[in-house]
Amino acid sequence: MNIWQKIKKEKGRPLMVLAPMADVTDAAFRRIIAQYGTPDATWTEFVSADGLFLGGYDHLINDLRYSEIERPVIAQFFTGKPEMMEKAARLALELGFDGIDINMGCPDKGVEKQGAGAGLIKHPKLAQEIILAAMRGASKDSKSIPVSVKTRIGYNRNELETWLPAILETKPALVTVHARTRKEMSLVPARWEHVKRAVEIRNELSPETLIFGNGDVKDVPHGIALCNETGADGAMLGRAIFGNPWLFSPRGTLGVEEKLRVLVEHTKLFEEIIGPKPPVGCGKNFVVMKKHFKAYVNGFDGAKELRVELMETENATQVGEIVEVFLKSL
Ligand SMILES: Cc1cc2nc3c(=O)[nH]c(=O)nc-3n(C[C@H](O)[C@H](O)[C@H](O)COP(=O)(O)O)c2cc1C
Repeated sequence: MNIWQKIKKEKGRPLMVLAPMADVTDAAFRRIIAQYGTPDATWTEFVSADGLFLGGYDHLINDLRYSEIERPVIAQFFTGKPEMMEKAARLALELGFDGIDINMGCPDKGVEKQGAGAGLIKHPKLAQEIILAAMRGASKDSKSIPVSVKTRIGYNRNELETWLPAILETKPALVTVHARTRKEMSLVPARWEHVKRAVEIRNELSPETLIFGNGDVKDVPHGIALCNETGADGAMLGRAIFGNPWLFSPRGTLGVEEKLRVLVEHTKLFEEIIGPKPPVGCGKNFVVMKKHFKAYVNGFDGAKELRVELMETENATQVGEIVEVFLKSL
């Protein structure tokens, strides 16, 4: 029984997991999320397998840092080269990850140019080779971790009837279906009826593979309702986590003060893990936090002014000071 089948059995309900989001769900934010609510599994941001092994991007190894409280934690990679995926999977196994996920849904032109991401939907044979390569890398001696795929329903149009069977032929442990095509990006509402169809195809071709649905899930009750309607084994939640690290907790909405204290804690953690002035070559910097400030700071009196002030900051100390002054003024 692989880890997915095990958690599914243990929980006895659809699984609610955290989506990978580059420059959002980094090691700092994931630790905050795990502290304030517990997703059933956590994904790293996607990491370029080519970047890790073809040189020049040594800092990418930093994107594979995680803390124990995130478990089960899944490493996501992208590449158009089976041999690079095999190496990445072996690295993830050695780093102690609980699973490996392959990105076959990213619409970014730079990613597609490398033959990776959503571009693989047009090359099902290569996609299969990449999955099989990940499986080889993910297994050594008696140790083995499951391989999963995150993808869309098609490239320019719905191709689920041919694309999903191609993936399922390799018997992955899990396929997450983002219920839109590549062409639709995230511009139209996700259509979960395609997730329902994915479940039917799975039932016929690879009953052991789990299917998660993804796209526009607002919160956990919404995700559970969608899974119940479609028969999906779980839902993956992405943008709903913005400014809302307690998304997976049953606590509901937090007051302004608590929200701002979490913002400060998150900023400190970002600085501690990634640094306000990261070493040259480290792909991230403090600008990443500005997206979070926008998301945390809204919907209350004075939010706009506070946001403007936070946008000017350069480190966690400044953020802490500005928030303290604001809280005293309440
Ligand atoms: C800022 C941002 C970064 C993303 N980065 C990744 C990524 O690294 N890997 C991936 O598979 N999907 C990535 N996605 C897609 C999400 O995982 C998810 O499929 C998409 O946002 C739809 O789910 P949602 O409606 O719950 O947000 C990203 C999305 C956003 C908004």
